Amino acid sequence: MLDINTIEKLDKIATPFYYYDMDLFRRTVDTASELAQQHNIMVHYAVKANVERRLLEYISSKGFGADCVSGNEVLHAHECGFPAGKIVYAGVGKSDKEIYNALKLGIEAFNCESLQEIYVINEMAHVHGLKANVSVRINPDIDAHTHKYVTTGLYENKFGISQHEFDKLIDILKKSEHINFIGLHFHIGSQITRVDEVFALECRRVNEIVAYFERNGLTVSNINLGGGLGVDYDDPDENPIADFGTWFRTISENIVRRDDQKVHVEPGRSLVAQCGTLMSRVLFVKSGETKNFLIMDAGMNDLIRPALYGAYHKIENLSASQRTFYPTHQAYDIVGPVCESSDVWGAGRLLPLSVRGDLMAIRSTGAYGQVMASRYNMKDLAPSVFSDSLEDAAEAVDYFTLSSRA
Ligand SMILES: Cc1ncc(COP(=O)(O)O)c(C=O)c1O
Repeated sequence: MLDINTIEKLDKIATPFYYYDMDLFRRTVDTASELAQQHNIMVHYAVKANVERRLLEYISSKGFGADCVSGNEVLHAHECGFPAGKIVYAGVGKSDKEIYNALKLGIEAFNCESLQEIYVINEMAHVHGLKANVSVRINPDIDAHTHKYVTTGLYENKFGISQHEFDKLIDILKKSEHINFIGLHFHIGSQITRVDEVFALECRRVNEIVAYFERNGLTVSNINLGGGLGVDYDDPDENPIADFGTWFRTISENIVRRDDQKVHVEPGRSLVAQCGTLMSRVLFVKSGETKNFLIMDAGMNDLIRPALYGAYHKIENLSASQRTFYPTHQAYDIVGPVCESSDVWGAGRLLPLSVRGDLMAIRSTGAYGQVMASRYNMKDLAPSVFSDSLEDAAEAVDYFTLSSRA
């Protein structure tokens, strides 16, 4: 994946850090952009996946909108070049302050997730003499066949409004004078890999729900299908760019739309996961009675996905890939430094013989990685390093000399 030249440069930087392959990132965004245009689909980037300013500035420059889930995300997206008129704001718990700021900014839409939220937004818009654009997040009761912590479309989820409240919802929307109802919003889950099957199912269910709302006197101008396109965590080099083609084609073939209806999607993971790599170093090699441990300097505070969801990330030993004198492979339990038993990168991973100081790549970590980092155990936050400005980042690892690696 990385050439020797790049590995040599990376090896000079103090670990842990997030490395972003800007060429792959731009190719991914450009691919999504071209395919979306072909299918007349509007893309709103789900900012929660990665809030790195350089990434957001490029995404906004391509004309994408932003899907945000907090007041600070709304403000940050706006600062990174997304016009207010292209920012949508979802989330089950918006505070009054967050609503007020977004109202003032004049965002494209609040994606409301409960009846009470609609009352509150209507009231606040009234008090401030404004009109709020509102889409309503519907819970379509669909199984996305993904991890239980990232499936969001099943009945009685905390997200969205379910079918038993539809009539009450329609009534409220009609009576709320200070909101402008613009459409319906859906999102059924994340890391969806059965793309054609699951998204076709979503579209068919969405068609029924849109028709129900229109039969009952509301015009649904925006149909927002959410995000969820999965990436290949097992083999990021084989599939560096997610299958936007199948996703958009499936939507085009299955969604029923009039010319005056816009179709939106909100990809997060699929735009940024594969361009990111968490770079770490082997601190110690520990031989147990039955196992060998590699203790790394990156931990669950840098990337919590394995501890939180049992997520798999491919791990490579970049230093060993340059050696010719360590031919053997060995099974390792790869762990982090944090004082929690769940701080494990992978158990029984087969790697070339690894030694103290080896540079390790934890792949596909551009999405839901750095954004969830914490300072647990008072660890420093891992900074961002970009492939197109590697020299700027070369903070020499002089405290980690080759002799100390032995
Ligand atoms: C409402 C909404 N839209 C979009 C996304 C982005 O999903 P993904 O990163 O799987 O594309 C999420 C993720 O949680 C979400 O909740």
